Amino acid sequence: MRAVDIIIKKRDKQELTDAEIDFFVQGFTSGAISDYQVSAWAMAVFLNGMTAHETTALTLSMAHSGAMLDLSDTVDIAVDKHSSGGVGDKTTLSVLPIVAACGLPCGKMSGRGLGFSGGTLDKLESIPGYRVDLSTDEFKSQLREIGIVLTGQSLDLAPADGKLYALRDVTGTVDATPLIASSIMSKKLAAGAQAIVLDVKAGNGAFMPTVEAARQLANAMTDIGRLAGRQVTALIADMNQPLGDAVGNALEVVEAVKALHGSGPEDFMEHCLHLSAHMLLLGKRAPSLEQGRVMAQKAIDDGSAFEKFCQLVAAQGGDVSFVENLEKLPAAEIVEVLVSPRAGYLSTVHARTIGEAAVTLGAGRAKKGDQVDHAVGFIIHKKVGQAVSAGEPLFTIHARNHAQVEQVREIVLNAFAFSDTPVAPLPLFY
Ligand code: URA
Repeated sequence: MRAVDIIIKKRDKQELTDAEIDFFVQGFTSGAISDYQVSAWAMAVFLNGMTAHETTALTLSMAHSGAMLDLSDTVDIAVDKHSSGGVGDKTTLSVLPIVAACGLPCGKMSGRGLGFSGGTLDKLESIPGYRVDLSTDEFKSQLREIGIVLTGQSLDLAPADGKLYALRDVTGTVDATPLIASSIMSKKLAAGAQAIVLDVKAGNGAFMPTVEAARQLANAMTDIGRLAGRQVTALIADMNQPLGDAVGNALEVVEAVKALHGSGPEDFMEHCLHLSAHMLLLGKRAPSLEQGRVMAQKAIDDGSAFEKFCQLVAAQGGDVSFVENLEKLPAAEIVEVLVSPRAGYLSTVHARTIGEAAVTLGAGRAKKGDQVDHAVGFIIHKKVGQAVSAGEPLFTIHARNHAQVEQVREIVLNAFAFSDTPVAPLPLFY
């Protein structure tokens, strides 16, 4: 077999065999196939697509390019969740403790922020001492002992994805549905997931700008799951406006903890209850979605979800006093409230603009390896569809200095658009 023949076959819109895909993936993982050939192949896939069968073969091959975590000796069913990323999406921080408190053990490997979209690991590192580099043994024993783990992706899982992703990033081939679907699912399979709830975001603050594109990605991933013998539920969630109110690392930890106490913003609470219910159903802890929701709500009301979060933080070396006394978390020196310039109904609260402004403040990275500032970000006070009066608070900037405030004030103000006539609220899920 030769790499060039596989590239030509894909260029000519023919279906690749499992053996050809495996040869290619193993070749680029070992370095036997060069970056320029992998790049040409990725562009051929970008332009000509892949069948469901090819996408699954690619996923399985990438999943098997490194170690495969086997959790069968640790939990009865390994349930995982994945969000395709967005602005203000701190769901994992609340949902994992909720389901774990309901008796569904959940160990998850999360990522860092990517561009305008935040990352769970960066948020968790707002808590001093919290470790995101657990070994496989630590992962398993903590999952067995306290039923919850939230750490970083270990380097030996799906290394092919890491290599391919880095090339896609610089060859204009990131947003190809089969490549995104196989990238996400290969990591989930390698991490031992038997059942997965996918939170696929659609909108200007997501990878997939439209519901139709998100649906295609969701279908590709559920197809892979089915063909790989896993159970997968995919939800399509709105990401045209930030989820919840907080955008920024420590600010999002505060909001996630408030949600665990039952006092998070309404949209975020609803999002967490819905996701938890799906996880409890897939994990066979709840007989129906309705019951799953009741269980999740109970874990919030009786304090067991928050207690589970504290156990998680303590087990991973974090200082629990920071989640018990939220005012101890990193805080910005300048807190400035911006008010509405006019009365009307909000028609847009542009998620991507707000996410990019948060990166400008330092909440995300301008380039790989940059340090994030845990303290900075925004609190958004209004949602699409809400009526506002002139002079009413629209958003609050948390910044390190006045120059930063000047840099983002107008940009974020322009993320809000108004209508004189009533506007329907955006759905949470499609
Ligand atoms: N997230 C991933 O893990 N991979 C992609 O390709 C896109 C988003």
